[in-house]
Amino acid sequence: MGRSNTTDRPYDIVLFGATGFVGALTAEYLAAHAPKGLRWAVSGRGEERLRALRDRLPGGEAIGVLPADVTDPASLRALAGQARVVATTVGPYLTHGEELLAACADAGTDYLDLCGEAEFVDLMYVRHDARARETGARLLHAAGFDSVPYDLGAYFTVRQLPEGVPLSVDGFMAADAMFSGGTFASSLHQAGRVRQMTAAARERRRHEPRLVGRRASVPVSAPRFAGEVGAWAVPMPTIDPQIVCRSARALDRYGPDFRYRQYAAVRRLPVALGGVAAFGALAAAAQLPPARRWLTERYRPGDGPDAEKRARSWFSLRLVGEGAGRRVYTEVAGGDPGYGETAKMFAEAAMALVLDALPDTSGQVTTAVAMGDALIERLVRAGITFRVAATR
Ligand SMILES: NC(=O)c1ccc[n+]([C@@H]2O[C@H](COP(=O)([O-])OP(=O)(O)OC[C@H]3O[C@@H](n4cnc5c(N)ncnc54)[C@H](OP(=O)(O)O)[C@@H]3O)[C@@H](O)[C@H]2O)c1
Repeated sequence: MGRSNTTDRPYDIVLFGATGFVGALTAEYLAAHAPKGLRWAVSGRGEERLRALRDRLPGGEAIGVLPADVTDPASLRALAGQARVVATTVGPYLTHGEELLAACADAGTDYLDLCGEAEFVDLMYVRHDARARETGARLLHAAGFDSVPYDLGAYFTVRQLPEGVPLSVDGFMAADAMFSGGTFASSLHQAGRVRQMTAAARERRRHEPRLVGRRASVPVSAPRFAGEVGAWAVPMPTIDPQIVCRSARALDRYGPDFRYRQYAAVRRLPVALGGVAAFGALAAAAQLPPARRWLTERYRPGDGPDAEKRARSWFSLRLVGEGAGRRVYTEVAGGDPGYGETAKMFAEAAMALVLDALPDTSGQVTTAVAMGDALIERLVRAGITFRVAATR
């Protein structure tokens, strides 16, 4: 079966979770930047709060309101049937996400989330990728700061390197930013499920076709001083390297043997060591339910950095790519990574699915595979830097 024709549905985009922290920022971004004529709606479980949000947005009278609740599967099916693209910020996705994704896969509706939970992404591949391929639905995860800069940054870097040869890319992230209650809750939830995450990854490997004649891998790496960027580099245990690797598996342009490593870049060794220790302590605490509950209560859902803090926040991802004796230094950079820029990336990716001429894809796909060039172009227009800093 090919892509379902969804153009006659009432909405181009439905934003589910619009009353949450990132949801509201995404709604504001869409209200300010959606082209005239784009039909979109805010959705979530509190109809009154949705109406209040809609009423304070510029052009609000044209924005639809669709009440839906993850505890009411019929409302999710109705939602999936009314949209061409569903963009959801309702996490933790392991708890709240599957019914909606399944409804989208069934209805041929494109689905986009902000999920950085590797277990969820792997389980959704195993359970719903085949159905989405039948209906033509595109299922995109991690369409925010996790993992768009890394995925598109690696894609952009690869395109500066020779074709048909082994390539390696190292990403070094530096940022000054804070997280929201929702992000904290999702990260803690994930950190408490290492065993289940490993099992889901194994299950995925059993289902995923083997890559023939090519390799794409994430070598294990240790903290080190990275002379190429003049900073201490600490490996980042996030979903991003897996996403980059999936793009490399899908696209021949990454060459016959592609390797990707990712680090947090910090200037001083004590900061690097402190980061490793803090992560270890948090991961250990997440294994104990009472400690996890106590930590979750420190940051409430809906909380997040205020506008002033967000305005001072920034990120800079420096990438070093190598292949056939050529070395290229690139950078992806922008403002507040977790929220302002996440809302921008998320909204632009949703609009790309509706408005841009994209490669013909379906099933679980990464942003680089589904919309690499189109999304880079959109993000550059929206003020995010993608640049080649030097070549050797
Ligand atoms: N990929 C990235 O870079 C990135 C960046 C930031 C955030 N995130 C992720 O995005 C997600 C949202 O973060 P956030 O800070 O915006 O969290 P949040 O403020 O807690 O928002 C969560 C949203 O989920 C909704 N919700 C909860 N239970 C629901 C239910 N039963 N039915 C319908 N809606 C329900 C909430 O609705 P109410 O308003 O009714 O409570 C709210 O709209 C988290 O999973 C976070 O990890 C990812």
